[in-house]
Amino acid sequence: MFYIRTADRLQRTARWIESLPGGINYLRDVVLKDSLGLAAELESQMQDLVDSYFDEWAEAVKDPELAAKFAQFSNAKDGQDTVEREDERGQKRPAWWPKQAVTTTTTTIAVSQSDAARGEEARSSVSDSSSDSATLKSSSSSDSLSSATTVSTSPPPSSDSLEPPNQIPFSSLRTHWSSTTWMPLIPASHFDGADDLPNGISATIRVSDTQLAIFRVRGRYYATQQMCPHKRAFVLSDSLVGTNPPSEEKQEGEVYIACPHHKTPFSLPTGACLTSTGNNPNESMSIATFDVEEREDGMVYVKLPPLDELDAALGTSRWIVRRGETGAAQLEEMDQKFGGFGDGRWKRPAAVVSGKARKPELRQKKEKDEKGVEMIVEGGCGGCGGTPDW
Ligand code: FES
Repeated sequence: MFYIRTADRLQRTARWIESLPGGINYLRDVVLKDSLGLAAELESQMQDLVDSYFDEWAEAVKDPELAAKFAQFSNAKDGQDTVEREDERGQKRPAWWPKQAVTTTTTTIAVSQSDAARGEEARSSVSDSSSDSATLKSSSSSDSLSSATTVSTSPPPSSDSLEPPNQIPFSSLRTHWSSTTWMPLIPASHFDGADDLPNGISATIRVSDTQLAIFRVRGRYYATQQMCPHKRAFVLSDSLVGTNPPSEEKQEGEVYIACPHHKTPFSLPTGACLTSTGNNPNESMSIATFDVEEREDGMVYVKLPPLDELDAALGTSRWIVRRGETGAAQLEEMDQKFGGFGDGRWKRPAAVVSGKARKPELRQKKEKDEKGVEMIVEGGCGGCGGTPDW
């Protein structure tokens, strides 16, 4: 309770103790000797907390309606592994993240001059192939992928902008599909209220072996791949959403997402990585984007390529982080170095036991600042440092 009432917002306990006048000794006096005369008050507050506690996760598991909100996919009941597990020290853990980001992918469609010619042929045979809002031929069955509607053909890549075959940036995929089809993927009601929320509402979608993220943000839909190319984590539907200020080129400002893991920002309209620090090795990352729209039948449609092409470029089984992929496990390396669990028990390295492994600055006793501790006794935000709302 003393920590809750005196720590700054999001301040870690280690930093909090360091900020106390006298550090751990001061804290010991407060807790064990009641040097501030607060013990009874803190005990009473702790009892209130204990009495009002309930396990919200257990409640969610017990309530089917609530539990349904935590499904992996918004359009499919079955879950899908997105990372393999490894055994280490007798326990299972997710495989370590890959060391390298991925910047390109491949499709089953070879990209070449002849493909450009083939695309040109297809374009001339489809009267309105470049239209994003082609006529709906069948929309009666809205919840089945087999009811895919209008077929339109993407414009072929121009011959002077072709990347080498099998090396296509994710954001360029949309110009390399052999054809595209509007598919109904999720009821628009999933996004009800999105326009009233600063972050909008997102959905995690599974199509065949591929995972997609659909966003409804500030009156518009966007669709992207679900995998963040930085660590091949399938998390982008949980991204933070932001808008760049309007610029000379873009009057409205560009809506972007920031991956929940390491906050790499990607443009929602184009899929381009927006990190431009000049020395970021991952600047060449990008994500695939798709046309998406809501239709009168109440479904949200996404314009997708043939599913085998989609899976070849973005499928989960292609990009899942594999067991052992990043080489020897970090703890295994450490165990080998220090002896590890050779006889079934962890051996502390001699340097650790003697204290020589510690950094010199940590060996020195720190002088604490003389600032007193300020108790926050009422008001506040309800979070760390303020009076809790419970
Ligand atoms: S996994 Fe690192 S930014 Fe997405």
